[in-house]
Amino acid sequence: MRVLRVLLVVLLAAGGFLFVYVVQWLRERHARGGPIPFSRAHILEHPLRPLIHPQRSTLEKFRFKPGDTVLELGPGIGYFTVEAGRMVGPEGRLLCLDIQPPMIGALRGRLEERNVTNAHPMAGDALNLPLADNSVDAAFLVTVLGEIPDRPRAMGELRRVLRPGGVLSISESLADPDYQLEDSVRDLCRASGFEVLDHSRERLGYTMCFAAP
Ligand SMILES: C[S@@+](CC[C@H](N)C(=O)[O-])C[C@H]1O[C@@H](n2cnc3c(N)ncnc32)[C@H](O)[C@@H]1O
Repeated sequence: MRVLRVLLVVLLAAGGFLFVYVVQWLRERHARGGPIPFSRAHILEHPLRPLIHPQRSTLEKFRFKPGDTVLELGPGIGYFTVEAGRMVGPEGRLLCLDIQPPMIGALRGRLEERNVTNAHPMAGDALNLPLADNSVDAAFLVTVLGEIPDRPRAMGELRRVLRPGGVLSISESLADPDYQLEDSVRDLCRASGFEVLDHSRERLGYTMCFAAP
């Protein structure tokens, strides 16, 4: 009897949590517009996130290697950045560009704390990347695309800065209120001249990799 009561309480708590999450998700999807505010950035570090977005295995899909120059577009407070910096190695460079200076400030602190010296945070806009043509080997965006208002223009910028054959990786998660459907991401990238290399499904999301023309 006691076990049943405990089970009921657990189920009710889980149901309540899910309900609140879905209501919040719907509100943000329809009302927010623009990037996730810095005041809500703690959600990017939710303790359950590694279950749906494990850092290492997600990054391994992005096809960059030690020594590469890699652009992380929209790193936020750096959920993926420390691990990505390790994977690029001492000969590589990780350029971390986010439109919100407070995100960049928090990221900088995190990198200093973890002694990551090959990652370079900078404030900037995906619509006007402060990078030279053909200057990066790979670029990745995790739950960022839906926050960018003019996505075709951002794709044009990514195409410009990636070297020919460079890899663009886009990872989307349903947990994100700005979730982008697979077909629309594929169409968007193809329209900018990218060619699909790889597509993998994950818990509550997917990753697609494209080759730059
Ligand atoms: C949902 S967060 C994801 C952060 C990180 N990629 C992660 O998965 O934890 C999206 C990030 O993209 C950034 N962002 C949104 N629009 C942007 C733009 N136009 N240019 C650069 N960064 C942008 C936001 O400031 C925010 O930090």
